[in-house]
Amino acid sequence: MKIKVTDTIYYIGVNDRRKELFENIWPLPNGVSYNSYLIRDEKTALLDTVEAGASGEAFLGMVEEALDGKELDYLIINHMELDHAGEIAAVVRRWPNVQIVGNAKTFKVLKGYYGIESNLMEVCDGAELNLGHHNLKFVFTPWVHWPETMMTYCTTEKVLFSADAFGTFGTLDGTIFDDEIDFEVYREEMRRYYSNIVGKYSNMVQKAFAKLAGVDIKMICPLHGPVWRTNPGRVVELYDRWSKYIARDGVVIIYASMYGNTAEMADHIARKVAEAGVHKIKVHDVSKTHISYLISDIWKYQGVILGSCAYNAEMFPLMEQLTRELQHMGVKNKYLGLFGSYSWNGGGVRNLQSFAEAIGWEMVAPAADLFGTPTPEKLAACDAIAEGMATKLLSK
Ligand code: FEO
Repeated sequence: MKIKVTDTIYYIGVNDRRKELFENIWPLPNGVSYNSYLIRDEKTALLDTVEAGASGEAFLGMVEEALDGKELDYLIINHMELDHAGEIAAVVRRWPNVQIVGNAKTFKVLKGYYGIESNLMEVCDGAELNLGHHNLKFVFTPWVHWPETMMTYCTTEKVLFSADAFGTFGTLDGTIFDDEIDFEVYREEMRRYYSNIVGKYSNMVQKAFAKLAGVDIKMICPLHGPVWRTNPGRVVELYDRWSKYIARDGVVIIYASMYGNTAEMADHIARKVAEAGVHKIKVHDVSKTHISYLISDIWKYQGVILGSCAYNAEMFPLMEQLTRELQHMGVKNKYLGLFGSYSWNGGGVRNLQSFAEAIGWEMVAPAADLFGTPTPEKLAACDAIAEGMATKLLSK
């Protein structure tokens, strides 16, 4: 079945509903799509492939169908991560004369994975390739999301092939284009994809935006998720906000608790935040909710309140994992509150405070570190955190 983006650009994507974890770490309850595109012109060009085995033999068949008897002249590699580069060797076997278009970094990895060193057309930033009607311009966008990543912009049809940028988790269940989908079904998964996969490179996303400033973009064809053929501005606005760390005026409270004392503190703080007038609140148990969703909610809300019991004189291990990942990602522009409880010498809150110093978020109040059962008297120590957070969020 041919799926047309325009009269001469074909969508050749596949849905992956079998994989449990993207990159073997991020859950895929709604699956993911790998998108590829074919331009049929005087010369033909395939833009990226899909993950090996995701479609069985179907991918090459779909390319052949779109080619409709023509040869494949070019394979343009915008991104070498294997969720898109997985069928390159199969494409080269099927069309041995195909010219592979990429940059120097692309070709280094191409050789490393597939040993391919011939029929290469190396392009520089801003280089152009004319297919007949379609004129393609290559825009290097390093670290969105690997160092070799580039985008391809069709100057004739104003279509941007954006690689991972503007992508999302979630399969395309019959609805492929943005004017066909229920946007709300994808919104949460878009942010989870952004924060988990691309978020670390938010400054590079902003550099890519600067490079594309003033470019007339009528459609965006990403490597995951819907094709934005009607309202690409919608996804551009979201990516712009996320990469600037612009978040909602709400708070996510994430706690680690072995026997319920730190959990009780979390619920107390949540209620106090609500009483203070902030009603966008989400509370997570770090042992229950996968870190993927915790990171996504931290991107969603400007307020972050973290709590940990002491565990072997340290933070609880899963809270330590979360804070380490947040530091690794360099997440910015958050208000922070800290709390926890202990039985002997503490360690949960003490190590959370070290995290706070390292990441540099603005503390809204002194940390609350409670000994033993959080009685009503002791819980009053948490009130300043709730009040401080509410004051910051409501005064924005
Ligand atoms: Fe969808 Fe960076 O690969």
